Amino acid sequence: MLRTQVAIVGAGPSGLLLSQLLQLHGVDNIVLERQTSDYVASRIRAGVLESGTVDLLVKADVGARMLSERLVHEGFALGFAGRDFRVDLKRLTGDVVSVYGQTEVTKDLLAARVVAKGHLIFEATQVALEGLDGAHPTVRYTQGGKTREIACDFVAGCDGYHGVCRQSVPAAALQTFERIYPFGWLGILADVPPAAHELVYSNHERGFALCSMRSTTRSRYYVQCGLDEKLEAWPDSRFWDELRMRLPAAVAETVVTGPSIEKSIAPLRSFVVEPLKVGRLFLVGDAAHIVPPTGAKGLNLAAADVRVLYHALVEHYRTGSTEFIDRYSERALRRIWKAVRFSWWFTSLMHKFSDDPFNHRLQLAELDYLTKSKAAVTSLAENYVGLPFERS
Ligand code: APR
Ligand code: PHB
Repeated sequence: MLRTQVAIVGAGPSGLLLSQLLQLHGVDNIVLERQTSDYVASRIRAGVLESGTVDLLVKADVGARMLSERLVHEGFALGFAGRDFRVDLKRLTGDVVSVYGQTEVTKDLLAARVVAKGHLIFEATQVALEGLDGAHPTVRYTQGGKTREIACDFVAGCDGYHGVCRQSVPAAALQTFERIYPFGWLGILADVPPAAHELVYSNHERGFALCSMRSTTRSRYYVQCGLDEKLEAWPDSRFWDELRMRLPAAVAETVVTGPSIEKSIAPLRSFVVEPLKVGRLFLVGDAAHIVPPTGAKGLNLAAADVRVLYHALVEHYRTGSTEFIDRYSERALRRIWKAVRFSWWFTSLMHKFSDDPFNHRLQLAELDYLTKSKAAVTSLAENYVGLPFERS
């Protein structure tokens, strides 16, 4: 039987970052991942980091490549009614965001775990948690046909929305909150220069569109689509035409088209589970909450959970006190719900929900208000760059 202090299930950004921070602070851990390392390193996800996330990655000793390759954005644009309005994040909040793909964050974390000789077990299937209620939980898994067990003090469930950890908790011990949106995002990645220097979020009668990027030569674009859409119905030419129709003319003119190197459809949902600590199990990142991507909060929220949890665990092993681990759920949820609110609000403001023109008129009125009211646009900006971390 293997023995460790913290067994971490899942080697996504949450699990890897937690593992790295715990090891740097002398807390022993083992990471169990269902997929291969190559699979984990190639998943394409979002790409906007709050300064708090950047700081945590630097603290975890995985910030060097990010700091040299990231694009620092001091604002973004809102497109609506044929115009584009710049939200000046720097002027309104003093803060900025960093564009650096989650795929790259994951690669940096994987590389750092290898250098630090972290104990990572890939292709671990049939992960099962036992004894979470007592003082000696165990995690069972199968690898290469052999079943093994890890004895640990705590389990960190960093295994994403479809993971096994949340499902291991009796349903009566958890409360879930969920909203499913009646549309998805069709996204493409292409090696073409971005249409604009900054991101453009566009509200259009045909539906939402987003111009994003991974670098000055690689663009990421999205259009809102129906939940029943099939990728085969979206050859590149149709995607580019639809994208340009939904952007303000000035932006549409600067879109450079090219072959897509990735194309996918993702549904939009808001989901939160409470509490985040059940016995000796902690739920972290996508295992605990999902936000629609509009506010670019998914990875940032996951990092914020890790920040609270690693600190709590380090304090526990340093002092023997359970004060911080007992408060993990309450502290993390305070930030989570604010991000859930913001992501829901920004999604509601920018997407087409129905053919009802009343709804669109309300959106246009609110967007117009944002361009006129410093208070309103500051609220948007301070949520977008990330709310300050609370001390207690
Ligand atoms: N056993 C072992 N590993 C598992 C299991 C299981 N039963 N189920 C899932 N996993 C692994 C997945 O293969 C994945 O590598 O857990 C990992 C979870 O990673 P993510 O889904 O990326 O979740 P998280 O690390 O919390 O990252 C949050 O990802 O989806 C985005 O918007 C989200 O940016 C946010 C970030
Ligand atoms: C992305 O680049 O994938 C991206 C950027 C901003 C968002 C969502 C996704 O709000």
